[in-house]
Amino acid sequence: MKPLIAGNWKMNGLCGSVREIEKLIGLFDGAAPDDVEVLVCPPATLVGLFATEFSDEGVGVGGQDCHQNASGAHTGDISAEMLADAGAAYVIVGHSERRADHRETDAEVQAKAGAARRAGLVPIICVGETESERKAGRELEIVGAQLAGSIPADAEEFVIAYEPVWAIGTGLTPTLDDIAAMHDFIRAKTRKDIRILYGGSVKPGNAREILSVQNVNGALVGGASLKAEDFAAIVKAAL
Ligand code: PGA
Repeated sequence: MKPLIAGNWKMNGLCGSVREIEKLIGLFDGAAPDDVEVLVCPPATLVGLFATEFSDEGVGVGGQDCHQNASGAHTGDISAEMLADAGAAYVIVGHSERRADHRETDAEVQAKAGAARRAGLVPIICVGETESERKAGRELEIVGAQLAGSIPADAEEFVIAYEPVWAIGTGLTPTLDDIAAMHDFIRAKTRKDIRILYGGSVKPGNAREILSVQNVNGALVGGASLKAEDFAAIVKAAL
């Protein structure tokens, strides 16, 4: 399975950020490596620009969220069809920041993942437990329920990103054994042929060991994806 290294830029990036991706491609000597799929998910304002500029250089583009409907009276929202039209190939759905900030439920995440498939995008469905849930030993129960509720029944293509909420942006990561246990669990609950990404404080310094864990098929990278040198180092750690 080809590893997928996806950068989640969150609410960061302006038109000038094109230069950061140019720098990234420069660090790969002109095109991203064939053996790793490299994806950047910038704010929606940059999806079209990045897709136009970089599709020939092996850097794919994804959205960070989509509405479940294709069009309509939903001021401020963006549909999966619009992301696809702008050149996106993937869309992140159910990120913990959206589950927390916008109170997105598993049912909504499932509808968004279904919308992504309808538009021909691959949804990256995020799951992960909070710190108190892990402390209570409930991480498998929580992630199991999120998987059951968030994956559309008929989705033939999707990616799961396991992102423990307490590891996002904190510099903390689970032990490699804990990552292995969770990824084995997600594999058993889903399918053999889907990619399961780990996300949460992935950095150049820990990427290689995390990516070598069984059933870790790539990474969803937040903060470290904003700097070309760091993101390139993480991509290279997957080779
Ligand atoms: P982080 O974020 O790498 O900054 O911890 C990961 C994410 O939220 O996708």
